[in-house]
Amino acid sequence: MFSITSGRSSGTRREYLLASGIFWESQSQSSPLGYSEMFMQQEEVLLETKLPLPLLTRGKVRDVYDLGETLLFIATDRISAFDCILGSGIPDKGHVLNQMSLFWFDLLKPTVRSHLLTADATKYPRKLSKWRGLLKNRSMLVKKAQMVQVECVARGYLAGSGWKEYREKGTVCGIPLPAGLRDGDKLPEPVFTPATKAQSGHDINVPFRYVANHLGVDLAGHLRDLTLTIYSQAADYALQRGIILADTKFEFGFVDGELVLADEALTPDSSRYWPTDTYQPGGPQYSFDKQYVRDYLETLNWDKRLPAPALPQEIIEKTSDKYKEAYSRLTGRTLEACTG
Ligand SMILES: Nc1ncnc2c1ncn2[C@@H]1O[C@H](COP(=O)(O)OP(=O)(O)OP(=O)(O)O)[C@@H](O)[C@H]1O
Ligand SMILES: [Mg+2]
Repeated sequence: MFSITSGRSSGTRREYLLASGIFWESQSQSSPLGYSEMFMQQEEVLLETKLPLPLLTRGKVRDVYDLGETLLFIATDRISAFDCILGSGIPDKGHVLNQMSLFWFDLLKPTVRSHLLTADATKYPRKLSKWRGLLKNRSMLVKKAQMVQVECVARGYLAGSGWKEYREKGTVCGIPLPAGLRDGDKLPEPVFTPATKAQSGHDINVPFRYVANHLGVDLAGHLRDLTLTIYSQAADYALQRGIILADTKFEFGFVDGELVLADEALTPDSSRYWPTDTYQPGGPQYSFDKQYVRDYLETLNWDKRLPAPALPQEIIEKTSDKYKEAYSRLTGRTLEACTG
């Protein structure tokens, strides 16, 4: 998906470090070449890893390695918009996403256990020790789960595909809603709107009875209740911090017969976060993390298909700041404090 040699933006320099098995892109114009120096530089981004381990999947953002009983999730600095991975990375994005999932796993622990084993790179299997610098703060080791093949989405507000269906049919995932709602409006109460995991492209919203038919009514009901419970806990928490959690997607899996929260949790990639101070129903909301990127891309004559364009330095920096702001607003911590 990434071309190693074809820099798509001027002033972009790419280094392929065979020895470490890691693909770094330096977005600075005059970059030193040493590995440790590169790692320390603020503007360095990690676009792709190539560790000599079995790769389970490379998603839009994360590289997942299969270690047998466990999985190693690495959050890169890739960014996608309009379902395409863009030609530039966002400094610190991987750290933000990883730390945010960890934050929520911990906060939700009294309600649901997660698949997390550890995010302390010093406790990873010894064979990973030579990549500790890379893995620190942007990775986690998780228990391999038997995944429930349903994306468990909770929506407290109308947006995206929910808004689209409502406009056409007055329902979301088949659930009837009151008439007269606008794009971005708060729903009378949060709804469970499951989706099937599509191999490519958009996931498909399905009615609850589809989940019940496939998984059995007990498990389907449990997934719905758990999804709505943890959505409400997270949304209440976020609201106290000036952020609306409009909707989010959870994935669950079984580990030793126990249903656990797996995958990522409540990151800006799996959730719609809207700052309360710019919230104005009646149209699309300001996106906390990707607004600068989307606005910029809309100025281009790009057909929203691959290959996607690279981003100007200014957009990259503003977006990086927004990710960090979302993290610090939500968690009350600064990213520096936890990556230092
Ligand atoms: N504990 C786990 N055990 C087994 N599989 C897991 C576990 N946690 C997550 N997964 C699966 O690992 C995969 C992670 O892939 P990832 O989310 O990075 O990419 P993707 O879903 O293919 O694409 P996207 O970037 O659009 O999300 C998903 O298929 C997810 O269901
Ligand atoms: Mg995914």
